[in-house]
Amino acid sequence: MNLQDAVVVITGAASGIGAAAAATFASRGARLVLGDVREEPLRATADALTAAGATVAWTVTDVTSEASVSALMDLAIERFGAIHVVLPSAGIFRDAFLVRVKEGKVTKRMALDDFRAVVDVNLTGTFLTLREALARMIEGGEPGVAFVVSSINKEGELGQTNYVATKAAVAAWPKVLAGELHAQGVKHLRVGGNRARLRRHSDSAGHAGGGSGSAC
Ligand SMILES: NC(=O)c1ccc[n+]([C@@H]2O[C@H](COP(=O)([O-])OP(=O)(O)OC[C@H]3O[C@@H](n4cnc5c(N)ncnc54)[C@H](O)[C@@H]3O)[C@@H](O)[C@H]2O)c1
Repeated sequence: MNLQDAVVVITGAASGIGAAAAATFASRGARLVLGDVREEPLRATADALTAAGATVAWTVTDVTSEASVSALMDLAIERFGAIHVVLPSAGIFRDAFLVRVKEGKVTKRMALDDFRAVVDVNLTGTFLTLREALARMIEGGEPGVAFVVSSINKEGELGQTNYVATKAAVAAWPKVLAGELHAQGVKHLRVGGNRARLRRHSDSAGHAGGGSGSAC
């Protein structure tokens, strides 16, 4: 598909999947808008991409903050005039068994703070990122794709009641969000999960997206 000049917003872009995705999109000619809560690694990622020839805007972003996520999306509109792809890759884990048992005695419980922190970043953060990006993408009227990053099989992982709860929740969103867009006649946007494939759009803009918002 043609990503030349497409505007791609990525959270959690300082490292890991977010940074790798940014490099991949840049190699296809996309313009990048990067957010992460960690300033120095985000700056380093943005600088490296810029040095390699990419067009990059970035700002420190905390996905748990409504104002911070809005500011990231506003940066995309101010600098590049549109958002064509959004990839919420910010995520954390705080692993612990729900209840630790030794010789019939409970020795430890998962801390409420650890449960809430994972929900705040992985679930609330993804909600805010998709909501704020989609609102601008809908009104922009250009073809685009919203991705939902999950990472959980049906069985989950021991020690991750918090993490799997968030990932199982967002795994259900492509279908729900695609249905909501379809029900409201939004035809220029698609919503995809982990295995989503970008499809070439037939209109003259030639950016990501198209179709009536089917999920995968
Ligand atoms: N690593 C895997 O095997 C794997 C597989 C599938 C999906 N995932 C998911 O992909 C996403 C990225 O994972 P990763 O392996 O690249 O992890 P990572 O730790 O390398 O990257 C996550 C990034 O999110 C940032 N972040 C954390 N809290 C934030 C906040 N409040 N606001 C903004 N940014 C914040 C971190 O600073 C970090 O740069 C996560 O949601 C993860 O659950 C991971």
